[in-house]
Amino acid sequence: MSLSRSVSITQTAIRNTSIANIRGLGIDLVHVPRITALLSRKPVYLAKFTRRILHEAEFNRAASMIESRERHDLFVARCWSIKEALYKSLDKSRQSYFQMRDWNTIDPDSPKPTVSGEAINRDEDFFVSVTHDGEYLLAIVIRGQSDKSTQ
Ligand SMILES: CC(C)(COP(=O)(O)OP(=O)(O)OC[C@H]1O[C@@H](n2cnc3c(N)ncnc32)[C@H](O)[C@@H]1OP(=O)(O)O)[C@@H](O)C(=O)NCCC(=O)NCCS
Repeated sequence: MSLSRSVSITQTAIRNTSIANIRGLGIDLVHVPRITALLSRKPVYLAKFTRRILHEAEFNRAASMIESRERHDLFVARCWSIKEALYKSLDKSRQSYFQMRDWNTIDPDSPKPTVSGEAINRDEDFFVSVTHDGEYLLAIVIRGQSDKSTQ
């Protein structure tokens, strides 16, 4: 990703959530071939693994990617990395019952990574940035207190 694009994403996050309202930050780096290898195991294992990690919307996206022979391993690596970064951004109490499949990182209306799902509290917002080069994929998540909590 170009430097100017990553700077503009960061600025968007800071505009919507002031520094004082940032509650957590997480980062994760994934070696994509590790995920590719996991996904190339037996179909039973593959279904178990993806069901544990992917939200229903992500699972359906991955299934359609497999059908159209797109790089679903990269997609699963992206979901994994965002959720590991997300986990690190949470308080200890919420980490204790964290389940990857409760969190959705895709927006049907936009290619931009996002965080949604039943596990989100009403008063929080998440900002996500992902980059990928060759075999590595990196995700950063900022957890902020949303303006909704003061309205
Ligand atoms: C704790 C966890 C995020 C560490 O991830 P990892 O891939 O093993 O290691 P990383 O190199 O990405 O991160 C390690 C760093 O994370 C940080 N870290 C460790 N525990 C953390 C926590 N509870 N919260 C935030 N950050 C944490 C530390 O800085 C650590 O650095 P250190 O090893 O030098 O102390 C991960 O093991 C985990 O438990 N994830 C839970 C989410 C989940 O459900 N995973 C998949 C299950 S199928």
